[in-house]
Amino acid sequence: MTDTDPITLRRVMGHFATGVTVVATRHLGGGMCGLTANAFTSLSLSPPLVLVCVDRSSLTFPCIQASGRFAASVLSAEQHQASVRFAERHEGKFDGIPHRMGTAGMPILEGSLAHLDCEVEAEYPGGDHVILVARVTDAGSRDGLPLVFFRGGYTTIAEPVVNEEPE
Ligand SMILES: Cc1cc2nc3c(=O)[nH]c(=O)nc-3n(C[C@H](O)[C@H](O)[C@H](O)COP(=O)(O)O)c2cc1C
Repeated sequence: MTDTDPITLRRVMGHFATGVTVVATRHLGGGMCGLTANAFTSLSLSPPLVLVCVDRSSLTFPCIQASGRFAASVLSAEQHQASVRFAERHEGKFDGIPHRMGTAGMPILEGSLAHLDCEVEAEYPGGDHVILVARVTDAGSRDGLPLVFFRGGYTTIAEPVVNEEPE
């Protein structure tokens, strides 16, 4: 039995439609870094935990390790340019991108559908990625349509969700 090759795995996993986040942090010097991430999920409600899988070789990973915190911005359908920008590999990605600081001082993109302020609790190996388990210390959301990543491209959902539950 041989391993599935990376190109096939990426193509096949592309059929698993996801939302898109920008996971961002601010280091002690005040500089900010962040990356587009769709390997982001809710893990536990009590305690409130999420997880995100971050590429070990990304510029953002050592920044998050150093600060021990990040904010995840859940992108709206209008924010696909932000997703493209934060999927680039360089510093200074926040230039020209409206943002504010969350309660823990981590950067949140303006116009996001939701945000979660997170404190890293644990780090587990995951091949070429690292699984970061983080406690949610603050969170908020608004109405709107999500940015969806599917088969290597961006889309959104056709209809607003009908939901009787309050936001
Ligand atoms: C839709 C989308 C989802 C992505 N999801 C992840 C992810 O979950 N984890 C990750 O480490 N990289 C992910 N990436 C790739 C990073 O955004 C990309 O490697 C980025 O250049 C890293 O930036 P940095 O090196 O400046 O930190 C994704 C890219 C795209 C376009």
